[in-house]
Amino acid sequence: MSLGAIKSGLPLAGVALRGCGSALPSQSLSNDQLSGRVDTSDEWIRSRTGIRRRRVLGAGEPLQGLAAAAGRAAIAHAGWSADSLDLVLVATSSPDDLFGMAPAVQAGIGADRAVAFDLTAACSGFLFALVTAAQYLRSGAMRRALVVGADQLSSWVDWDDRRTCVLFGDGAAAIAIEACEPEQDGLCGFRMRSDGRRGAVLQLPRQSGDEPLVAGARWQPGGFSPIHMNGQEVYKFAVRDVPALLRELLEETGTDAASVDWLVLHQANQRILDAVAERLGIPTDRALSNLAEYGNTSAATIPLMLDEAVRDGRIRSGHLIASAGFGAGLSWGAALMRWQGPGNVPA
Ligand code: UT7
Repeated sequence: MSLGAIKSGLPLAGVALRGCGSALPSQSLSNDQLSGRVDTSDEWIRSRTGIRRRRVLGAGEPLQGLAAAAGRAAIAHAGWSADSLDLVLVATSSPDDLFGMAPAVQAGIGADRAVAFDLTAACSGFLFALVTAAQYLRSGAMRRALVVGADQLSSWVDWDDRRTCVLFGDGAAAIAIEACEPEQDGLCGFRMRSDGRRGAVLQLPRQSGDEPLVAGARWQPGGFSPIHMNGQEVYKFAVRDVPALLRELLEETGTDAASVDWLVLHQANQRILDAVAERLGIPTDRALSNLAEYGNTSAATIPLMLDEAVRDGRIRSGHLIASAGFGAGLSWGAALMRWQGPGNVPA
């Protein structure tokens, strides 16, 4: 099928992954520094999570600027101009603006032709956004999309709660995708799940407020409570449901685990990465990890890891990547992708 046929509305174009980019806050916070604030230690955090440090946005560093920088790097990597983009989809749970951060990111990139909107699915957000953007390309409605994962959970943790504050960091990363001939399809399959019944184990809930407004009416002031998490329940969910979903995806696509070059999982805990790889029968050294440096950057972890591994030459053109995101909702999703973009070309 030609791109002409795609334009005329025929379905089933392929989706090619063409470029990646990332941007991180300049401020880095070590485990030792955190132990000056809460009752924790470098030893506890490293042995229970694998995290050594995380990046935190400081004064005057808005998340939308980070997201735009990641987006610019991804389209430069793909060799595209900003005005060739049709869509800027930003996965985030911590936007600078509750009305949506994506238009500001679109403006920061200069993608004037693109429609831009946010998608919220917590730590599954990037994967859900990638699959969503891919549908516009498959259907022929759009040709080029930028999928950004960006989060600033440092604004929403309770920095005095040692059970959560040590886990998260801030970051942004993006992937540039475009419609291609079906034979070159790089999104080989996907699966997505939600289970609101288990949602209470990980929430960033709206604060319950109740104030008098006028005679006979009341209103609820806006605001959110800090992240609340039952770590053990989230852990159990991740090590049971994520490998099960990946296994289904591998079976459905007729893919042998041995042919997966890399596992690119949401970076939440090194023990989770190892357990998922082991349950799938994939050597743990193929489960990519950069947790030690960045902690859990929520919607940014998967593209951040992809970008790092593409640029340092581990992921090469033609490599098969099994990816999975999981987190609040509960939500979880998996995708099987073939990288087709360039390697380490100057951004
Ligand atoms: O995107 C998804 C986001 N979330 C996750 O993926 C989280 C998944 N869960 C986890 O990664 C782990 O459950 C945690 C890392 C959060 C916790 O590890 P754990 O091995 O499940 O520890 P725990 O909650 O069972 O706590 C063990 C002990 C407790 O002390 P007591 O009650 O045994 O005296 C905690 O109070 O460790 C204590 N503890 C800490 N100690 C030092 C909890 N956090 C800390 C800390 N420093 N930061």
